[in-house]
Amino acid sequence: MTIRKAVIPVAGFGTRFLPATRSVPKVLIPVLDRPPLHLAVEEAARAGVEHVVLVVSPDQQSVADYFTPKPAVEDALERRGNHALLGQMRDIARTVDVSCVTQHEQLGLGHAVLMAREAVDDEPFCVLLPDDVIWSDAPTIGSMAEHHDSLGGPVIAVKRVPDEAVPSLGIVDVRDASGPLSRIAGMVEKPRLEDAPSNLAIIGRYVLPPRIFDALENVAPGAGGEIQLTDAIAALLPTEAAHAYEFPGVHFDVGTPLGLLKASVHDALRRPDTAAEFRRWLAETL
Ligand code: UTP
Repeated sequence: MTIRKAVIPVAGFGTRFLPATRSVPKVLIPVLDRPPLHLAVEEAARAGVEHVVLVVSPDQQSVADYFTPKPAVEDALERRGNHALLGQMRDIARTVDVSCVTQHEQLGLGHAVLMAREAVDDEPFCVLLPDDVIWSDAPTIGSMAEHHDSLGGPVIAVKRVPDEAVPSLGIVDVRDASGPLSRIAGMVEKPRLEDAPSNLAIIGRYVLPPRIFDALENVAPGAGGEIQLTDAIAALLPTEAAHAYEFPGVHFDVGTPLGLLKASVHDALRRPDTAAEFRRWLAETL
């Protein structure tokens, strides 16, 4: 795989999680016991990414701290013989190199990605949004990077969504479907349902060429007055063949409290350490 770097933007206000996000960044509110940030970095690491660039806001020191080694906690786990948890703690802190860049003004997702320009430099890279949790056998971003290696150009994860979800998402217009891949003919952020070209919504996984940074510099504010990543990718379409990837696996949007709860329930029902007791409690409760 040629993709070595991942950008993970987490600098948004997270208003849908207020009041919790008054002091806790949304990406650290856990799915059962793992923050979405942890899951996104783990997915990138499993895909072979070497360097993760977190785009943080000025008051998100706790996000950077998440990845620093915790020797006192690790010693305590060692003494208690909790080797499984110790392994997990060490893996996440040490398998990838994590650095942070600051987005001083929350001008949108596209603007957040632009803040990583210097760290990414002149090579293709991937973007993962921790709000989208995808559980699948192979890491989704790794499969997308492999498709990028053979096809070139942007590769964007998509999922078929019901009509009512269309106006709040980025939507793609596709041609020439071949298995999970199709060529993207156009894309639009948060269209009215009657204007939407399809029900295929963009989910937060992207493989992008470095030319996206010039497009982001030049794109005008779009939906919601924000610099939209979708608009910058759309600006590349006349010169770059872009592909949509309908990924396998289970997806949750954990950017809302209800979505986070559903993901936690899904996880608790399948994890060996929680499944039996949780299933019993749930059956009694229902
Ligand atoms: P969202 O649109 O979900 O915004 O951002 P948000 O601020 O996180 O949450 P709400 O809508 O207020 O509840 C999508 C992704 O882009 C990042 C967010 O952190 C999230 O990962 N983002 C958004 C930035 O990093 N900077 C921005 O200016 C906007």
